[in-house]
Amino acid sequence: MSERVGDARLGQYVPAPGVIDLAWGHPDPTLLPVDQLREATHRAMERHGPDILEYGSTAGSPPLINFICARLAETDARAPGPDQVVITSGASQGLDLVATLLLQPGETVLLDLPTYHLAISILSDHPVQLKAVASDADGIVLDDLARVVAQLRRDGELPRLLYTIATFHNPTGRSISLERRQALVNFAAQEGLLIAEDDTYRELSYDGPPPPSLWALDGAGAVVRIGSFAKSVAPGLRLGYVTATPEIASRMANGGLLDSGGGMNHFAATVLAEYAASGDYLRQVERFRDAYRGQRDRLLAGLATHVPDAACSRPGGGFFVWVQLPPGVVADELAPIAIARGMAFLPAHRFYVDGSEAPEAIRLAFSMYPPEVLEDAVVRLAAAVTQLRG
Ligand SMILES: Cc1ncc(COP(=O)(O)O)c(C=O)c1O
Repeated sequence: MSERVGDARLGQYVPAPGVIDLAWGHPDPTLLPVDQLREATHRAMERHGPDILEYGSTAGSPPLINFICARLAETDARAPGPDQVVITSGASQGLDLVATLLLQPGETVLLDLPTYHLAISILSDHPVQLKAVASDADGIVLDDLARVVAQLRRDGELPRLLYTIATFHNPTGRSISLERRQALVNFAAQEGLLIAEDDTYRELSYDGPPPPSLWALDGAGAVVRIGSFAKSVAPGLRLGYVTATPEIASRMANGGLLDSGGGMNHFAATVLAEYAASGDYLRQVERFRDAYRGQRDRLLAGLATHVPDAACSRPGGGFFVWVQLPPGVVADELAPIAIARGMAFLPAHRFYVDGSEAPEAIRLAFSMYPPEVLEDAVVRLAAAVTQLRG
């Protein structure tokens, strides 16, 4: 027990001395809005008094729900109504709630791979089967999706849910084309397949507005969108949301978890609404975008200069660049050499259900460090590649 207490630290991330760690998709801590959230907390407590310390209304703090509706009217092609939004404790808990309430034991969840490794982990906590679908540079391959669904139906299995990241993908950085988005939504509606769309990175777009969400394109109730404030404000708030049909939203708001505990993170949610009302949210999103755009550009320029025979994705938003390693370079062999030279990454197999099909690729997160440190990381990566090639 005392050991545990001695080990306890406030943050999840444990820095490794001397290592520029591009394995973690965390924000640059120096950009987090400490002063603004302190002031918003004060204002929210003045405004709401004891109400901010009560159990909150089950779907979530109403001022935050209203803000989400108004904000999505600006950043997406369709805005939800308040009865279509439920506040969650981050996108992670949103996905867990979808799996808890909308899946039955033994049903099959489809994932286009590679995908966010911790979504695989969340879904693996549920008694469902996970089934891979192929993806290419434009996202999920619809022919393969149709093939997998038909095969499952022939085998008497029920493909119930597809988890996918259409916009600023983790780990590849790519976004699905408008044409493929619409075709995917149509296919899901026709097949009775529910899509869990992870829309965590919508606010972090660097080259113009983000594409419309699958949720916005869907007119048939085939999509539950999972959003987050972890990347647009701060992960420690543990706040996100789902947008869904009023029926699904009501199912979530009236499930046992929220019925028992009230709306998720009521205090933090009400503070966040106060923060947003002052204009601080928009200023922070702009601040993040300006910083991350510069970081992305420096990382890509560094890779082009120092590892010219690697093939890199060019993300229009989000945190990640996907690097197909030069021929003959194996990600798992490169990793320890890179760490010894002072940089870290995640190998591609982390983003596959069964790592055997993973390409020799790596994910680099450009979110946590300023441009000059990212350049240094690439120089170290290039040295590791040279060393491995002998
Ligand atoms: C695609 C994706 N979904 C969800 C999350 C987790 O979001 P949250 O912190 O809101 O639970 C992340 C964080 O890295 C992510 O990249």
